[in-house]
This record gives sequence, structure tokens and C-alpha cells, in this order.
Amino acid sequence: MENGGERATFRAMAEGTQADWAIIGGQFRGFAAGLADRVLAHLGLLDGDFGGFPIDRMQHSLQTATRAHRDGRDEPYVVMALLHDIGDTLGSYNHPEIAAAILKPFVSEELHWIAQHHGAFQGYYFFHFLGMDRDAREAFRGHPHFEACAEFCGRYDQVAFDPDYDSEPLAFFEPMVRRVFARPLNSLYAKAVEGV
Ligand SMILES: [Fe+2]
Ligand SMILES: [Fe+2]
Repeated sequence: MENGGERATFRAMAEGTQADWAIIGGQFRGFAAGLADRVLAHLGLLDGDFGGFPIDRMQHSLQTATRAHRDGRDEPYVVMALLHDIGDTLGSYNHPEIAAAILKPFVSEELHWIAQHHGAFQGYYFFHFLGMDRDAREAFRGHPHFEACAEFCGRYDQVAFDPDYDSEPLAFFEPMVRRVFARPLNSLYAKAVEGV
């Protein structure tokens, strides 16, 4: 991470000047360019994290993404599949929302919705073993993205626990992650980013 370079001089934002923000804006480009690296590094935290499952969370992520790729899904979809459980480390009680927030500026509204709600839909396959309602997803029945989310869990996520599946390595997906995270489609800061 870049720590050198010029610094703004304000002690409170209310004192900020155009010159201060030229300094900050000028350094944002380099920082933003490292986003894909930071996402990939964080994904690496899932390596070796089994939590009782047959394969670790990294292998599950790679298998989910590989299955989506081999089924002909486009690049943003495959990247969403790769990152859908990236929030397991920091969002242990709401992991889908973490992935959704990271992906939101870079993917379609449908892919964002799938990431955000996959937890409730995946629950169809196991909630009843934990004393929960496997039909929790029914709360979303009729939503325009209901079927897409059910399909993601059914075809790629819930089946991605096979220790014998030949998943592609992380290196295979890295260029896809870099392309998807290269520039936001929608962001509060999109206008500021346009010029860099
Ligand atoms: Fe998940
Ligand atoms: Fe998953």
C-alpha cells in the first residue's frame, strides 16, 4: 500500500481546500488499481478454512466459479461465483452481504441480488437440519431475480463440495477478477473516478 507522497494539510474536512483534494484525488488512482489485489488477498483467507465441510472454503469458491464457467456463464457471473463466500471471514453472521457490497459497483443489479440473497436460497438445502425453515427463500418468491438466485445455488453453489471435482486454480480466475474490478459501473464516486 502506498504510504509516501504528498499529504493534505487539513485537520478537519471542513478546512479542506481544492489543493488538498487534488493531492488526495491524485493518489486515489493508484490505490483503486490495487483493489483486485486486495480482494484476491482476502479471498486467500478462505484457504484451509474447512469449518467441518468436506472441502475448504477456498476450494468451494473455486469449484463454484469453475462450474459456472464451464456452464458458459459470462465473466462477471463467474467472478460473482468466485467471491460469493468471501465474507465468511468478517461477516460470519451475514456473509452474503459482504460479497454483495464488494461486487455492487462492478456487476449488474441481478448479479448483486444473487450474491446478496444466496444465503437464504442455499438454505433450502440444509436449514431443516439446523432447526430452521428450508423454505426461507419463499419470502422472495415473485421477485424478478428469484429464479436466477435459485439457479445459482442449485447448479453451482450447493453442488460445489465435491473433493474429486477438478476445479481451475485461482490463477485461472485472476485476470477475470482484474477485468471486472478495473472500473466501477455504478458508484457514488463514479463521477470523481471518471477523470482518473
Ligand atoms: Fe454462502
Ligand atoms: Fe457457497
